[in-house]
Amino acid sequence: MKFFLDTANLDQIREAYAMGVLDGVTTNPSLMAKEGIKGKDNQYKHYIDICNIVGGDVSAEVIATDYEGMVREGEELAALNEHIVIKLPCTEAGIKAVKYFAGKGIKTNCTLVFSLGQALLAAKAGATYVSPFVGRLDDISEDGVGLIEDIVEMYNYYGFGTMVLAASIRHTRHIIDCLKAGADVATCPLPAIKGLLKHPLTDSGLAKFLEDYHKVNG
Ligand code: G3P
Repeated sequence: MKFFLDTANLDQIREAYAMGVLDGVTTNPSLMAKEGIKGKDNQYKHYIDICNIVGGDVSAEVIATDYEGMVREGEELAALNEHIVIKLPCTEAGIKAVKYFAGKGIKTNCTLVFSLGQALLAAKAGATYVSPFVGRLDDISEDGVGLIEDIVEMYNYYGFGTMVLAASIRHTRHIIDCLKAGADVATCPLPAIKGLLKHPLTDSGLAKFLEDYHKVNG
């Protein structure tokens, strides 16, 4: 399973890259706004900065909600860097735009997916990635990880090539559950990835090793 970082924060992206576990980055308009990136020129420069750190797929989301606008904006975004993946919402216009970009060999990420039916349409349109939002489904007492399992099963059964990118990951347990469900990618906040390292037996084992070493070596 690949790890993407779900952020537009350059320091966190550098940190994850330095750890050696970063395969890509996903952004969205909320994450860009959180970093205070204002205006198209600054946003486009920021995407290029992210691509230059990561060297892997970087999802950049369109703001347009109509098909023509999505195509126009997506083409501008795709021209910024070879690693840009056009992120499109799972709406009628978005699905049509997924199909358009798939035909041009441009990677897409179909986002805001909350049902098996939406995931089916994204795959049929030729999306590179589909992004089911695990945490937001859990928020409304639905089963986010259950949806990941269902989509993985459907894609395997019918032989769709679309990759399942588990999004809206809120914590470390979500990562483990999406891993077990067979997600191709989990896009996560950095603390959730770091949480994978935590184990009390690692801490106590290391303390004991050092204690024994110092008993002999001073
Ligand atoms: O990848 C989608 C993600 O950014 C949404 O996360 O926590 O706002 O539901 P959240």
